[in-house]
Amino acid sequence: MASEGVMATNDDASLCKRYATHMKYWKDDFIQYFVRNVPPRKAPEINRGYYVRHYSITSVVEQFFSMVSKNCQIVNLGCGFDTLYWNLHQKDMLPTKGFYEIDMTQIVQKKMQYIKMRPQLHQLFKGEMKITSDQLHTQDYHLMSCDLKNIEELKSKLYGNGLDKNIPTLFIAECVFVYIEKDWVRELSTFIYQDFKVCVLYDYDPVNLNDRFGEVMKENLKGRDCLLLGAHDDMKSKMRSYRGFQDVTTRLLLGIYRNVPKAERGRIEKIEFLDEVDLLEDLLKHYSVVLCSNDPDNIGLNGIIL
Ligand SMILES: C[S@@+](CC[C@H](N)C(=O)[O-])C[C@H]1O[C@@H](n2cnc3c(N)ncnc32)[C@H](O)[C@@H]1O
Repeated sequence: MASEGVMATNDDASLCKRYATHMKYWKDDFIQYFVRNVPPRKAPEINRGYYVRHYSITSVVEQFFSMVSKNCQIVNLGCGFDTLYWNLHQKDMLPTKGFYEIDMTQIVQKKMQYIKMRPQLHQLFKGEMKITSDQLHTQDYHLMSCDLKNIEELKSKLYGNGLDKNIPTLFIAECVFVYIEKDWVRELSTFIYQDFKVCVLYDYDPVNLNDRFGEVMKENLKGRDCLLLGAHDDMKSKMRSYRGFQDVTTRLLLGIYRNVPKAERGRIEKIEFLDEVDLLEDLLKHYSVVLCSNDPDNIGLNGIIL
């Protein structure tokens, strides 16, 4: 079970995303319904880091959609207050076969409260909204509590609510696996590559924590009852967790940032002045995306660009 400290990382992520979108690094009309007030200022490096994180996941989702059309499913593992469902709805890009979100009970219950309270969130759902103490279901959106270490419960909840192994599926784990012991992450990845013929697993996490930067990060989080049980010292070790997928690629956030189209990079670099570019580069070297795919019919999933 995730500790209070691990669950609290959802607050950090939501506050940082709220602030960065307030500063117009990207547009998100829905995060305000989960984090009402704009939080105090965050350092420009943090905002840019969150921008690259958002850019990366958006780019992968859009490429995945262009390959499978809307005939697909999304499963957001450790979803926190993520607003992807609503943002895809706004862009008319929702998967037709369902959008599934999983987190610990405490987080799911809070997310359900906000969804129930805010028409701006629930009025976009298709069909009737059915709510229990720890689940919310509509025709196309399913929010469920489950400890990701309990794979049997996870399978039963996903399959019991219509997830179809035979439909292309995008699994998202945005800053989640780093909190889960490596053996469990391997179990999760085995479940995904064995059960889903056509799938992509997107994993965003801190890496390369075997240096001063990593030591400081681990110490700070430890003081908040938040252990990085799934942290890998290097990329090679992280990629080994995903043996079994047909294709595994990875890129540091720094590489992803350098690949942002010039005009877009110019736009975000004007939002806030950076005193020290080195600080940003150091930060971006300590986060990576790993993209795993199964694509037996060669529809292009193995070629998604990070
Ligand atoms: C840093 S937050 C990220 C939230 C969201 N993915 C995002 O990027 O905004 C990590 C999330 O993973 C969830 N989490 C961590 N361990 C988990 C576990 N064993 N089972 C379910 N959720 C877990 C936490 O509760 C938290 O909401």
